[in-house]
Amino acid sequence: MKKVITYGTFDLLHHGHINLLRRAKELGDWLIVGVTTDNFDLERGKMNTIQNVVQRIEAVKATGYADQIVIEEYKGQKIDDIQRYGVDIFAIGSDWEGYFDYLKEYCEVVYLPRTEGISSTQLRCEGPSVNIGIIGTGSIASRVIPESKCVNSNCISAAYNPSEKECRAFSEKFDIPMAAKTPEELLDNCNAVYIASPHYTHYQYAKMALDAGKHVLCETPFVLETAQAEELYSIAQEKELVLMVAHKTAYCPAFLHLVSLLKSGVIGEIVEVNASVTTLTDESSDKLDSKRFGGSMNENACFPLLPIFKFLGTGWRNINFYSKMKRGVDMFTKAVFRYDSAVASFQIGLGVKTEGNMVISGTKGYAYVPAPWWRTDYFEIRYEDQNLNKKYFYPFVGEGLRYEIKEFVSKVISRDFGFFRLSKREILKMTEVQEQYLKGVNVFKL
Ligand code: CTP
Repeated sequence: MKKVITYGTFDLLHHGHINLLRRAKELGDWLIVGVTTDNFDLERGKMNTIQNVVQRIEAVKATGYADQIVIEEYKGQKIDDIQRYGVDIFAIGSDWEGYFDYLKEYCEVVYLPRTEGISSTQLRCEGPSVNIGIIGTGSIASRVIPESKCVNSNCISAAYNPSEKECRAFSEKFDIPMAAKTPEELLDNCNAVYIASPHYTHYQYAKMALDAGKHVLCETPFVLETAQAEELYSIAQEKELVLMVAHKTAYCPAFLHLVSLLKSGVIGEIVEVNASVTTLTDESSDKLDSKRFGGSMNENACFPLLPIFKFLGTGWRNINFYSKMKRGVDMFTKAVFRYDSAVASFQIGLGVKTEGNMVISGTKGYAYVPAPWWRTDYFEIRYEDQNLNKKYFYPFVGEGLRYEIKEFVSKVISRDFGFFRLSKREILKMTEVQEQYLKGVNVFKL
């Protein structure tokens, strides 16, 4: 039996792909199709695929040409696959002419004619685009704009800041077509908003945007009260709108893989999670202003809460907070969570500095993520027998904001309101922890 293998992303499957698969199948008796994983595409800089790997695999399956589908996860896998599956012919479109000649050492390499006039890139450009209005024009908004340009199918159509002067300067600097004078004007000129205003204004803007039928990507921390979060989610659900929190760690490839690895049991049962996030901040900063809901808990708690919830869930028994206060805000807080069979803790600070790493301890080994763990690009799984230790490296491209933008844009376009990497429950629970702290429950001031 002659085995043929071919690879591709197969995003928005088109007749060029179908021709390629048919021709590849005609070369032999058994066709294996390698479909790239989302992470592998991200790693090789392909940020713009619209469909996820499951949707792309389903589309390839539906053509009826593939006898076997494998997922392509890493550079160099083609050689491994050819040997593992006993492949006779490697086939690929002629746009790759010469590129895969190194595989000739392992099997026959055939470049098949590429169908002219069609590509996934072209379809993505012709397809729907998300026009994003930005509310708040501070430092995070300035960082989001260049990142959004790395993601397909979106454009920044308007910006709003209560200070007209700042809004105009921001819009001119980033070539944004409209500096809106009011939030209503912004909402009239976009179909989605990115909220990057001070966090105590998030609820008001998010509600306004959802009421106006706009999808929302909201910076962290989301809102200050659980009831507000619940209300926003129910409006989004009722109106079929995407409501996503821009927690960049939750969408970066290394963190996602760390979660799936540890969930698969590589360090045994997880017994402890400890993570720290500290940034020394200027005392005059808004981040330390009690009237603006500043302080370490409000600013930073959502970061360590993410791994705690991902690894131990949200069913804690109690939480104790220990805070070093100054002028009415916590310069530093340590929190300890008691679960039935595990414990978690975090240290966060705006006026105290410590090592910003994360350690997740299990019954068989532990995961060590060096500082800054929240922009994860590398981690280690360590065991008693050091020979078994394993190091994992990932790209964290640019500021890492493009991962959440990509997720948001693709959810809006595919009208996918189902699965969220950072779930509604997790967000509600993050808000609940903040709320408990603001109410002073189990808060011990140092
Ligand atoms: N292909 C083809 N004819 C086209 C487009 C793609 O024969 N018009 C082939 C490619 O050469 C490759 C396979 O289909 O062998 C999968 O390609 P993929 O990169 O997934 O598709 P593109 O449309 O080229 O995607 P993009 O625009 O994102 O590069």
